[in-house]
Amino acid sequence: MLGIGDEIKFVGSDFNAFIDHTKNAVILDDGEYAILSRDSYVVKSILNEEEVAKPITKIEWDSETSKKGGYPHYMLKEIYEQPQTISNALDLEPSGLDDVVEMFEKAESSYFLGVGTTFYVAKYAQYIFSELAQKYIPPISSDEFLTLANVNKKTLVFAMSQSGETFDTLSALKYSQSKGAKTAAIVNVMGSSMARMVDEVVLQGSGPEICVISTKAALSQMVVLTLSAMKLGLKRKVISKKTYQENLQSLKELPAIIQGILNERSGFIHRIANKYCKNKNWLYLGRGIYYPIALEAALKMKEVAYVHAEGMPGGFLKHGTLAMIDDEISSIVFVPPKEKKDLYQSTLHSIEEIRARSGFVLGIHFTEQGKNQDLFSEELILPNVPPLIAPLIQLVIGQLFAYFTATSLKRNVDKPRSLAKSVTVG
Ligand code: G6P
Repeated sequence: MLGIGDEIKFVGSDFNAFIDHTKNAVILDDGEYAILSRDSYVVKSILNEEEVAKPITKIEWDSETSKKGGYPHYMLKEIYEQPQTISNALDLEPSGLDDVVEMFEKAESSYFLGVGTTFYVAKYAQYIFSELAQKYIPPISSDEFLTLANVNKKTLVFAMSQSGETFDTLSALKYSQSKGAKTAAIVNVMGSSMARMVDEVVLQGSGPEICVISTKAALSQMVVLTLSAMKLGLKRKVISKKTYQENLQSLKELPAIIQGILNERSGFIHRIANKYCKNKNWLYLGRGIYYPIALEAALKMKEVAYVHAEGMPGGFLKHGTLAMIDDEISSIVFVPPKEKKDLYQSTLHSIEEIRARSGFVLGIHFTEQGKNQDLFSEELILPNVPPLIAPLIQLVIGQLFAYFTATSLKRNVDKPRSLAKSVTVG
């Protein structure tokens, strides 16, 4: 606690202050000091104690703004923190990761568990574990777990949670433990109930996520899960050491690529979001691993902008949804890189079906596909990237599109209605 006459030095600056005998803070600068009270101030010269006239400069930020590091919202700040968060996760590989991989190897059956965004992280994990480790692990939304899962002593239940406090996920884990199953979790909050209750915890270390909408925590979880799938794939000899190294290299390129996209594409996404913010219905389409990306991107839109957005696998279109395509429904399509030949072709097919009915399509695709104004109503072209990380980059676009739509609609971005950071009740 500072006392009268104590001097305050500001590190790295020649600006000093000390506490004056009046008990008000006196700030010394250029031979002057200010006596501050709650509703007045006086600035005097130290030399002759004479009052100095000082104009008032109104600073347009408050302490809350300074915590946001100059960003208008925590959501944007956290989206921009993603390159750093991902680098951290890759540089300081979370402890517990190898043990969890071992647990997957040993378990006779496994489940992924999560709810809201983390359920979509779980769905992403299902695809990546299937692709890289040839391990089929069904994801279950925590609230459905009790009626759906079959767990026993040889089961591993792996939960995903940003907060580590979500009631439904904790309940599903407790139930699993009561049946003798092994449990593990990836969480962002150290010391949380979930981190303490599971047999093995992976602490992702993404730093505090203040915005109610999850961005950096979810993307980081996806990165860590990709790494886990690679490790399991290597152990199970599904992928070679060479492929493992190539994949690791791709993951390491991710932070710089995301940074480039944030720098170079944000303005364009802002304009598109502004132009179409009044659209009331969106279909978010993706195939394969782009399906969970579409689901999560659509959830961002619903959560923060309160705009109807429905994530769907492209193949579902022809089972009813195509009948609804008209000028009231817009589509966003997450197009994979051309290297993923089958996925790419089938995604193009979905787009053609919508265009044949004069539907609006915003295509998010990669440079190698060239400009394609005939196919898309609007297109956002991304630089070519390794296919492994392409879905993760597409998700960043989905986050930004939701954010800018919300700001265009003047929504309460960091605290959207009817949403809590963690839902701790059943
Ligand atoms: C709430 C939050 C979501 C979050 C979900 C799961 O619905 O608003 O952002 O995805 O809970 O939370 P968890 O902390 O378990 O990831």
